[in-house]
Amino acid sequence: MVNESKTILITGGAGFIGSHVVRLFVTKYPQYRIVNGDALTYAGNLGNLKDIESAPNYVFEKADIIDGPRIQELFVRYKFDAVIHLAAESHVDRSIMDPLAFVRTNVLGTANLLHIAGNAWKGNYTGKLFYHVSTDEVYGSLGDTGFFTEETPYDPRSPYSASKASSDHFVMAWHHTYGLPVILSNCSNNYGSNHFPEKLIPLMINNILNNKPLPVYGKGDNVRDWLFVDDHARAIDTIFHKGRVGEKYNIGGFNEWKNIDIVNLLCSVMDKKLGRSPGESAKLITYVTDRPGHDHRYAIDATKLNKELGWKPSLQFEEGLERTVDWYLGHQDWVKQVTSGDYRKYYDEQYHKR
Ligand code: NAD
Ligand code: DAU
Repeated sequence: MVNESKTILITGGAGFIGSHVVRLFVTKYPQYRIVNGDALTYAGNLGNLKDIESAPNYVFEKADIIDGPRIQELFVRYKFDAVIHLAAESHVDRSIMDPLAFVRTNVLGTANLLHIAGNAWKGNYTGKLFYHVSTDEVYGSLGDTGFFTEETPYDPRSPYSASKASSDHFVMAWHHTYGLPVILSNCSNNYGSNHFPEKLIPLMINNILNNKPLPVYGKGDNVRDWLFVDDHARAIDTIFHKGRVGEKYNIGGFNEWKNIDIVNLLCSVMDKKLGRSPGESAKLITYVTDRPGHDHRYAIDATKLNKELGWKPSLQFEEGLERTVDWYLGHQDWVKQVTSGDYRKYYDEQYHKR
């Protein structure tokens, strides 16, 4: 019931997708109290939420999901009705460099949250919900045809996707074993504002702008299925309010692109915006050593979500991409802030060996 007041813990709310989810819930549901619990790792940035930070129904709590006493204290203080769990290590390339960091946060952190929520709500699960936000990467890698459905067996192939698959299994285990009310969603690649520039689209925008090489892994023929981040946030809102407990829902935009085609599209959009001659930015494209174990293709079948709950994406990719480019061009202060420190060290390690 959307009219009831609720207190919701949103983990990872200072990150890319989390900040869009926090903003949507804070502005759309003034009757809810939204507690953003985030450890503020390199990927967390409170600057993403400047516009809503003083809203009366919003609170930020710096908290690491692995830290049992701290999470327990938050459950006692706020008496959460629900958790929307987005906090994670999210970058595949970093998971190849430092896999245990992914086990720590994505597996142990999720189990810790489940354990504390289960104990806090034990004996009365009425009105309670643990919503776990996951990824299509748990399903593995597709050939040139076919789609991932909710029934596709899990086949994760990177330390990142293995850690997310593991977290999904723990969520379902808490449901089957202890009756915890859970919902899970698995979404395809997101893009949009506030996306950390270590991921394909914002990294390419930043490098085109700065006339730096555009590192395309392998032949650039890997395929991803792209969804505008606000459409993912809307899907989470829909599933949170209308989804069936114990179910999982795929989220995606039926919008597949080869990496090289996206990079070329970005180059032509940015040539126009930057007043460069056609083809100038594309000269920066540089093929580099492939990502180890690089999944060939992801493609989500989101029919269940559409048929059962009526959600569909709102935006065409070309329009979303242009809006995204405009956001980055207009927010160079944000980019400068997040590309200092840890990011520079990561960038040197990741790309100078290639
Ligand atoms: P992100 O890396 O931008 O943000 C992650 C957030 O989690 C950051 O604010 C970070 O500070 C926080 N965090 C990390 N470790 C933490 C810890 N131990 N305790 C508390 N907070 C911690 O990630 P994102 O791209 O916004 O992804 C959010 C979620 O959505 C993740 O669970 C990810 O697996 C999932 N997902 C992402 C995509 C995508 O395309 N980005 C697609 C599908 C699903
Ligand atoms: O599918 C959902 C997943 O999408 C999320 O669960 C992850 O959190 C998110 O990071 C994303 O994973 P990918 O590995 O697909 O995204 P990334 O932006 O890292 O890469 C997209 C594609 O582009 C992939 O095929 C690798 C390629 N790539 C990436 C980078 C960073 C390049 O060719 N060059 C690059 O420099």
